[in-house]
Amino acid sequence: MSLYYSDGHTTIYKQDNLELLRDMKSESVDLIYCDILYNTGKVFDDYSDDLGSPEEAMEWYRPRIEEMRRVLSSSGSIFIHCNWRMDSYMRILMDEIFGTNCFRNRIYRQHSKERGFFSNFDSQMDIILYYVKDHRNFVFHEIRGEAKRIVPLFENGDLPGRDDIRSFEDTTIDLKSLNKHWLISAAQFDDMKKAGEIKLIDGLPYRFSDVIPVGNLWNEPEMLDTYTRTGVADAYDTPKPEAVLDRIIRVASNPGDTVADFFLGGGTTAVVAGKLGRKFIGCDISSKACDVTLMKLGVKAKEN
Ligand SMILES: C[S@@+](CC[C@H](N)C(=O)[O-])C[C@H]1O[C@@H](n2cnc3c(N)ncnc32)[C@H](O)[C@@H]1O
Repeated sequence: MSLYYSDGHTTIYKQDNLELLRDMKSESVDLIYCDILYNTGKVFDDYSDDLGSPEEAMEWYRPRIEEMRRVLSSSGSIFIHCNWRMDSYMRILMDEIFGTNCFRNRIYRQHSKERGFFSNFDSQMDIILYYVKDHRNFVFHEIRGEAKRIVPLFENGDLPGRDDIRSFEDTTIDLKSLNKHWLISAAQFDDMKKAGEIKLIDGLPYRFSDVIPVGNLWNEPEMLDTYTRTGVADAYDTPKPEAVLDRIIRVASNPGDTVADFFLGGGTTAVVAGKLGRKFIGCDISSKACDVTLMKLGVKAKEN
């Protein structure tokens, strides 16, 4: 392991991430976020974003994703940030390695606004693939806001397996007879009942709570790239906004957990993990990335 910096909470390695991953203990990380190489074909001073054909790129990623799964804790989650070049290939690879039932979502993050390209629809989204190690046991904290709101717990149409009869106070809720089905599991329904969040309106179940429903389209202004938002370039070439990491880390980990980013870049994950009281492990092959990260963390490099 090639340690670059450690203070007990944040540890940075400067080396190839596969080498580091192979040296790491199994089940030692609770949440992995990686903004991977998009395979643009560009060669930068400090690293190459050219992994060959998409098939060759998949073979480069395969051992890394396998190792990432190994180092994840039994209730761990992984978010792989990519774009249109690699997203479908990574989805297939992740399905193979994690299993299709551990796929949770494909998140669309808006990185920019219209840039006036006229020969195609302007690409404004990149993709975050979200998987868990065990689909029966993972951390997912809902996002809570100030105001309470009412959200339906059913949807129209038949869906076998999601049409069980449930009870609330002295009422029986039979969605199947109304040609509807449940959006939540029986266990989730029980939790909401205990929390006093269930309301029946015309015999149909709603949740009345301060939970903010968040979809997989992340297009709030703070999700946009820093340059698009502020017009000011960052110390690093392509940093992801803190809002993206803030949402991922709050939802999919607990304070005190260990978060890792094996394509550290400008260190956004390190900064947000620290602010949210998580331990952090970062890895980058480039000293520029490690130094920018340490600068953002407000510490000096301690090379060993
Ligand atoms: C797209 S940037 C990450 C940007 C980062 N998310 C941020 O917010 O600043 C990708 C990073 O991966 C690093 N990298 C490339 N190949 C690597 C490898 N084999 N092992 C570790 N890091 C690598 C590059 O040096 C680069 O800093």
